[in-house]
Amino acid sequence: MITRIVCSIFALGLAYSAFAIDLTDAQRAEIEARIKPVGESCMQGDSSCGGAAAAASSGPRSGEEVYNAACMACHATGAAGAPIYGDAGAWADRIAKGTDVLHDSGINGLAGTGMIAKGGCMNCSDEEVIAAVDYMVEGSQ
Ligand code: HEC
Repeated sequence: MITRIVCSIFALGLAYSAFAIDLTDAQRAEIEARIKPVGESCMQGDSSCGGAAAAASSGPRSGEEVYNAACMACHATGAAGAPIYGDAGAWADRIAKGTDVLHDSGINGLAGTGMIAKGGCMNCSDEEVIAAVDYMVEGSQ
């Protein structure tokens, strides 16, 4: 009799703990489902998160991609006196300084002007900024 009681308590305990594990799994799955979009949306290299400028790249982005993400804000509008993309007149004197100088301006910025280092794109590699400079120069002569 005592054995049977102990046994059923044990069985009950097993059933209870099985239930508890099920519940935990279900809760975990639910929590995972709930936090998944947040956890996934800001992974490095995911351009769907926070715009391309916010995403670090897994491989180098093209000059056009970097331009659209990080340079266009000023270079499409002329904000702060930025030479506008496609405006050959605004670029001629700059292009005359040579590609190396322009690459350097892109990477390090131009002191005392609105052209800050990398146009403010701190997750842009030097290589990507150079590609963006080349893209602007090619489209502006
Ligand atoms: C916040 C505005 C802003 C952003 C963003 C910006 N630029 Fe500029 N950029 C300027 C301004 C202003 C100038 C002109 C500075 C001057 O000569 O007075 C300029 C000039 C330049 C020049 C010419 C430099 C020279 O030596 O004559 C290059 C090249 C350039 N930007 C590249 C870039 C690239 C590449 C990006 C994006 C990665 C970028 N810029 C983003 C404002 C910006």
